[in-house]
Amino acid sequence: MALVPIHLISLTILIHFVAAQQTNGSVSVGSSVTATTDAKPWLSSSGEFAFGFKQVQGKDNFLLSIWYDKIPEKTIIWYPEGGMTVSTGSKVDLLDGRGLVLSDSQGKEVWTSGSISDLAYGYMNDTGNFVMVGSDSRNIWESFSYPADTILPTQVMNGGGVINSKMSKTNFTRGRFQLRLLQDGNLVLNTQDTIYGSAGDAYYNSATHDESNSSNSGFQLVFDATGYMYILRRNGERLNLTTKDSLPSGDYYHRATLDFDGVFNHYYYPKHPSEPTSWKVIWFVPENICTSIGSKACGLNNVCSLVDNRPNCECPQGFSLVDPNTLDGDCKPNFTLSCDEDELNHAGDVFDFIELTNIDWPSSDYVHMNPCNEQTCRTSCLNDCFCAVAIYRDSQCWKKQLPLANGKKDPSQNVKAFLKFRKIDRPSGSGENRSRRALILIGSLLSIMFLVGIVLLIGVIYVCFIQTNKKKARKSFPGSSTVETNLARFTHQELVNATDGFKDELGKGAFGTVYKGVIGTKIVAVKKLETVVQDGQKEFKTEVSTIAKTHHKNLVQLLGYCDDGEHQLLIYEYMSNGTLASFLFGDIRPSWKQRRYIAIGIAKGLTYLHEDCSNQIIHCDIKPQNILLDDYFNAKIADFGLAKLLMINQSRTNTGIRGTKGYLAPEWFRNTPVTFKVDVYSFGVLLFEIIACQKSVVFNNNDVEDVVVLTDMAWDCYHEGRLDAFVKNDLEALDDFEKLTTYMMVGLWCVQENPSLRPTMKMVIQMLEGGIEVTEPPCPCPFSVTSLSAS
Ligand SMILES: *[C@@H]1O[C@H](CO)[C@@H](O)[C@H](O)[C@H]1NC(C)=O
Ligand SMILES: *[C@@H]1O[C@H](CO)[C@@H](O)[C@H](O)[C@H]1NC(C)=O
Ligand SMILES: *[C@@H]1O[C@H](CO)[C@@H](O)[C@H](O)[C@H]1NC(C)=O
Ligand SMILES: *[C@@H]1O[C@H](CO)[C@@H](O)[C@H](O)[C@H]1NC(C)=O
Ligand SMILES: *[C@@H]1O[C@H](CO)[C@@H](O)[C@H](O)[C@H]1NC(C)=O
Ligand SMILES: *[C@@H]1O[C@H](CO)[C@@H](O)[C@H](O)[C@H]1NC(C)=O
Repeated sequence: MALVPIHLISLTILIHFVAAQQTNGSVSVGSSVTATTDAKPWLSSSGEFAFGFKQVQGKDNFLLSIWYDKIPEKTIIWYPEGGMTVSTGSKVDLLDGRGLVLSDSQGKEVWTSGSISDLAYGYMNDTGNFVMVGSDSRNIWESFSYPADTILPTQVMNGGGVINSKMSKTNFTRGRFQLRLLQDGNLVLNTQDTIYGSAGDAYYNSATHDESNSSNSGFQLVFDATGYMYILRRNGERLNLTTKDSLPSGDYYHRATLDFDGVFNHYYYPKHPSEPTSWKVIWFVPENICTSIGSKACGLNNVCSLVDNRPNCECPQGFSLVDPNTLDGDCKPNFTLSCDEDELNHAGDVFDFIELTNIDWPSSDYVHMNPCNEQTCRTSCLNDCFCAVAIYRDSQCWKKQLPLANGKKDPSQNVKAFLKFRKIDRPSGSGENRSRRALILIGSLLSIMFLVGIVLLIGVIYVCFIQTNKKKARKSFPGSSTVETNLARFTHQELVNATDGFKDELGKGAFGTVYKGVIGTKIVAVKKLETVVQDGQKEFKTEVSTIAKTHHKNLVQLLGYCDDGEHQLLIYEYMSNGTLASFLFGDIRPSWKQRRYIAIGIAKGLTYLHEDCSNQIIHCDIKPQNILLDDYFNAKIADFGLAKLLMINQSRTNTGIRGTKGYLAPEWFRNTPVTFKVDVYSFGVLLFEIIACQKSVVFNNNDVEDVVVLTDMAWDCYHEGRLDAFVKNDLEALDDFEKLTTYMMVGLWCVQENPSLRPTMKMVIQMLEGGIEVTEPPCPCPFSVTSLSAS
């Protein structure tokens, strides 16, 4: 009886011995693994990691990968870029001269690691790194250098490094999100185009780029052996990403994965659990992916809410998923909006609202009414056939169109959303509908007759009393419910208090310095004019009231002023997203679509100043520093109206950069009259900056002589058909080649030397939007061909 256990023990030892022999981690040249359900993978010496084929998504789909072999989940931590799956019978070989070669069941090569010469052996390390070791004992290739969606302790990412999320939990194709360590030192999370791979806006940024001193900038992303992750700066300092005390790496597995939903998580898992367990999260970024601008965590018309720190997407009532299997995809409404006159006249019978709380779709709005009450907000949306939802918050109303983007649930903001839905079907000819329509028609005829009566009555009163007043009627604009502005006047002391003694400087412009302030509960920007208008208060007041009367979605709104003879200040609405300059010339190239939207916004603002205002306003100083971006990245022109006030009879020649044109139209340097066409010229330069994400004038190596002028480059690139060089391989823009070409042509028309050749801003909008055909522009440089470096 006693013999049996001894036998068993020795058998166990034997098995253990054999297993240990098989798994010292090394893989000899010529070895291979075949994709079958019972194939033996290449194990690391501890047996914790395995390299081989893992069955994913259905019986006949195998993924070449590395996984944790000792935990029940067998979590995959590496796979070749692209995550393509192969069928049963496919094979991976380790070959001298060729490295790893993956062939499908027909023997066709589908992936290789790239040629490897003098290969001594392969090695599945206990760190999870598969390496190919050369005959000189150096590592020639390692899986850590080609990360998929996960990084592990002892793995380091250098500048330019990137990991991509997968498409979904079970689909390893490249997904929508990226984690990148940029060359400038910032670690960012951004979306990417799944077809072209071009990067979208960052929705997380580690802010480890130091513009003034590059030795303080980030340089490596390190996941150290103890399970701490940090960004190492060039000066040796760290920015810790692992915020909590990490768990000892001897007892826990650690991995950091960019999940398919866009959240970057640091997970841990006990190596010797006493009971069944699962991966737990130590830390993650971004803090709230639903509210991180640019994350696009859920599709169009969808609504994102945070559940266990992950995005949860849910179509709103009346909407359903376009693809029922893609929960984070787009939603479609169960109805159509219509602008049929017939339906429009009694919208209340056809449409109604579902009231949702704390749900918002920032951006997507086309009208902003401030102030506005709740009832007006609803009615206005009901009677507007484009309005799909009205957002009501703080006595303001935003009307939004389909499709609705960036939907999120955000209990921190007290918002109401009135979501439109169709009460009755579209007229289909059914008897019930017909009789209903007949009823509606009779009803509306009666009410129209009643209305006509009232309108006539009002008309008579108007003619009798108001017209005699000879008061010029002013056009009313969407977005402002008051036509005449009651501009608030402040004392200097009030503004000292509002800005806490002019403490928080937002920026410096040609006309003065801007400070952040708070008046009541509203955050404002206070501009302190440096050059006090000499001619006294009357002129200041006249000009300010002219400025105050301008209302447009693409103009920064003037809210009030201060003028006590000594101080002249202007109070504007505050713009949370800063200037277009910082947006365009930052680390990350903003999306082409967003830039196009901004360009058209600026053109609309300028058209309004030039044509729609009662007094034509020439801006004279259009440049990206004077364009601000609101919460939803709507472009808003700032500082308009000040040129006339502050620059009368002033020569502008000395404000230009010596020998370069910058944004200034040539008339500024000549003795020719300055008209609104100077703004068109500056807009052209700005348009090139928006297209190329490059400043209009760049000095190479700080050399005043070695200068690149964007307008010249634009003509050269256009003329030579090298738009790819102009946009520096911006795939998103190149993919939209027709529009890109149109924008270039419009820009070239705007910067013509002869002002009469330049289009009006109204024409510019029509050309940008495709309303009118753009003709071939001539060279914008017929007058002078002088080389810049010669000046
Ligand atoms: C692993 O074991 C094989 C024999 O099974 C041996 O040839 C090889 O040298 C060993 N490798 C290492 C790194 O110990
Ligand atoms: C395996 O990983 C350990 C720990 O990082 C390292 O010291 C060792 O050199 C690695 N082996 C190979 C062959 O790369
Ligand atoms: C993964 O998703 C991509 C893109 O949607 C699709 O083309 C591919 O067929 C999917 N792969 C599998 C195995 O379902
Ligand atoms: C940059 O920062 C490092 C330390 O962080 C400092 O030693 C160095 O003097 C700084 N260089 C400049 C130009 O400020
Ligand atoms: C970062 O973490 C390391 C290791 O825990 C610690 O020594 C260091 O003080 C931390 N640095 C900062 C700035 O918190
Ligand atoms: C569409 O959705 C709304 C809101 O859920 C619902 O009241 C309405 O009956 C739906 N209409 C159809 C045709 O399903």
